[in-house]
Amino acid sequence: MVSQKHYSAISIINHWITVILVITMLTLGFAAVGAPSDEVEDYVMSIHIALGFFVFLFIAWRIAFRLYEGFPEREEKTAIERWAAYIGHRTLLLLLGILVITGPMYLLTENECIDVFGWFSVCVPLEGLDFMHEAMEWLHVVIGLYLLPALIVIHTLAGIRHYILSDADTNSTDI
Ligand code: HEM
Ligand code: HEM
Repeated sequence: MVSQKHYSAISIINHWITVILVITMLTLGFAAVGAPSDEVEDYVMSIHIALGFFVFLFIAWRIAFRLYEGFPEREEKTAIERWAAYIGHRTLLLLLGILVITGPMYLLTENECIDVFGWFSVCVPLEGLDFMHEAMEWLHVVIGLYLLPALIVIHTLAGIRHYILSDADTNSTDI
């Protein structure tokens, strides 16, 4: 693990690509819940799943990179802020990791392939794990519809506060 005081350029790019991908996945997920017909729901879900294949790869890369690089030192914060950022950032990554595993597992444990825009399909025969199917769905939907959006709202407010305060503190971490 590399010790540092600031986020690297790769970390910053990873952060903002993640924001775009996660907001898109959430929008598709919520659009599927509110779809006016089964056909629309299936269509929206097919995009969610196809894009989800690439989101899986990207989230795996950005979690691996964070494990390699570590989080920057945060001595400029109070103990409570340090603790909130410590827990909050790790929880965000953990929830994203669980989402990109439970989504595919939900499909594969029911013997469905992951169809990527009709370009190719990823099929892994996991129907022997069908006892996990409902737990995968429950975790994916509860995290996707409630826990992650709530944490993102809190994180965004904390981020805005961070930018306002770090104007006066050039030693602060930034992203
Ligand atoms: C989908 C939405 C978002 C997700 C999933 C997310 C995730 C994360 C994660 C995991 C970190 C820890 C560092 C890293 O590994 O990248 C982080 C840091 C940070 N994020 Fe976000 N973020 C989101 C949206 C935002 C937004 C909208 C803002 C701006 C208001 C923001 C501002 C920041 C800042 C300033 C940091 C660094 C804070 C520090 O270390 O003191 N994030 N974010
Ligand atoms: C950041 C990543 C992800 C987010 C934020 C996310 C979000 C959501 C949300 C909010 C729903 C709820 C929609 C509903 O209840 O019908 C959902 C459902 C679903 N997602 Fe994801 N998802 C992500 C990744 C994935 C991946 C990688 C896959 C598979 C490749 C996937 C497959 C599914 C499936 C199959 C459902 C429907 C579950 C059901 O029928 O109850 N998701 N997702």
